[in-house]
Amino acid sequence: MTVIEEINRRRTFAIIAHPDAGKTTLTEKLLLFGGAIQTAGAVKSNKIKKATTSDFMEIEKQRGISVSTSVMAFEYKNYKVNILDTPGHEDFAEDTYRTLSAVDSVIMVIDCVKGVEPQTRKLLEVCRMRNTPVIVFINKLDREGQNPFDLLDEIEKELKIKVRPLTWPIGIGKSFKGVYNLVEKSLNLFQGDSKTTVEDRITFSDISDASIDKIITQDYATQLRADVSLIDGVYDALDKNKYLEGNISPVFFGSAVNNFGIAELLDCFVEIAPSPKSRESELGEVFPTDKKFSGFIFKIHANLDPKHRDRIAFLRIVSGIFERNKYYHHVRDKKQLRFSNPTAFMAQQKSVIDEAFPGDVIGLYDAGNFKIGDTLTEGENFHFKGIPSFSPELFRYVTNMDPMKTKQLQKGLEQLTDEGVAQLFTRKVDGRKIVGTVGALQFEVMQHRLKAEYNASANFELINLYKALWISATDKKKLDAFILDRNAYIAYDKEDRLVFLAESAWLLQMAQEKFPDIQFHVKSEY
Ligand code: G4P
Repeated sequence: MTVIEEINRRRTFAIIAHPDAGKTTLTEKLLLFGGAIQTAGAVKSNKIKKATTSDFMEIEKQRGISVSTSVMAFEYKNYKVNILDTPGHEDFAEDTYRTLSAVDSVIMVIDCVKGVEPQTRKLLEVCRMRNTPVIVFINKLDREGQNPFDLLDEIEKELKIKVRPLTWPIGIGKSFKGVYNLVEKSLNLFQGDSKTTVEDRITFSDISDASIDKIITQDYATQLRADVSLIDGVYDALDKNKYLEGNISPVFFGSAVNNFGIAELLDCFVEIAPSPKSRESELGEVFPTDKKFSGFIFKIHANLDPKHRDRIAFLRIVSGIFERNKYYHHVRDKKQLRFSNPTAFMAQQKSVIDEAFPGDVIGLYDAGNFKIGDTLTEGENFHFKGIPSFSPELFRYVTNMDPMKTKQLQKGLEQLTDEGVAQLFTRKVDGRKIVGTVGALQFEVMQHRLKAEYNASANFELINLYKALWISATDKKKLDAFILDRNAYIAYDKEDRLVFLAESAWLLQMAQEKFPDIQFHVKSEY
């Protein structure tokens, strides 16, 4: 296969959902279809198994969230499908944001009983920022959900996207009969707890075909015809380009746990979802077809065994071919690095690979070289854009509780913040370390990991801060004047970028009014 063919057959995406909508179940069913796993329940049991292997994971298990973002790849109809699993809990919004920088499209799962939920909204905002193409899967049709038209209206209104149903449910909950495929004009009948992976479709030349009445009864057939005619009147036909631009989302209905409606979803997904896209870098756009290898680190996963401090850095390949044992340029560190056991993730199996192509995500064993957002190239000096840090929402002072372990604490803080668990700021006036996060859980996770992995004891003390914003100005003198005036509220991030620590929204507004030439940024990339 040529490189171009390898690129074209790749589909790298994430499933996004509010917790409990069915993301894990859908992932598992997709893996079953791809033959990557043999039994239902495999993904979940893996989740639980992992959770009991260390105390750190125990914290997550207790809270019912998954901190780790794993990669699952499988082959389907000559497509190579890469699923990146996004953490579902809202505390980890930034983590999810980074994962979404590494995908080319998403499937959004919505629970038909609950409709649009808070996390769905947040995740979709991120997709809209990047015009990521979205396919919607409305799940749990075996439950008494909302009217499908109401659901679609809610999705369009609440998420500000346009939708186009490609399948349509017949009945819902106890009376759920199956779905009608609006493109193929076929019926797929629901058989309760069907556990098969093969779905039998009954094809018709037209919705007016009288045999439909026999199969799903006259009442349902009449309703279906009315629904279909309404759909055709209200929704435009699916324009693939509009979908690829992120302007319209095809919608599928089904029941993940019953393995129902998944085949339609997957078949359409591999056909229309984008192959690996280009990425913006400091030197312009980098295309998958560019000859030279490049990629970026979007996720660092700590080793589950706290005695070993090595980690897995997840690299998304943007261009060229990645080869095992070849030297690559670590742009930020100006180092040459070589990887003897780069890992690919086929479902739950990890295996060492010799090469990987654009769109693939590989795991690189790392003893502390990498940081989120790092770029690897074949020698060129540029960084990829689009993996910024965001202004945290919670802040704490770090206090060293064991003066004999200062070095360990320093190292632990450096490495954990490299992994993106939290952000580290150093206050200019007194050098005090301030940790910023988007959720309270991260402080607990950090404290636990500092002890377990670095043997360091730290306390996190409350600090009254509203936001930490990156600052810049075109006129350096004006920036200096601002720094002088607000000296006590200036800090540096890990990259030595200037940050303004605002104690309240009001104080921030005052600063903005008094210094109109200073730009305040909520992202580190501006
Ligand atoms: P998440 O990853 O989005 O958090 O959701 P997950 O797949 O874990 O699903 C949440 C719950 O919803 C699970 O039940 C799952 O079995 C159920 N579920 C998923 N798809 C469907 C569906 O189509 N219909 C119905 N009725 N339920 C569905 P649980 O009780 O939390 O877990 P389990 O004991 O079933 O594993």
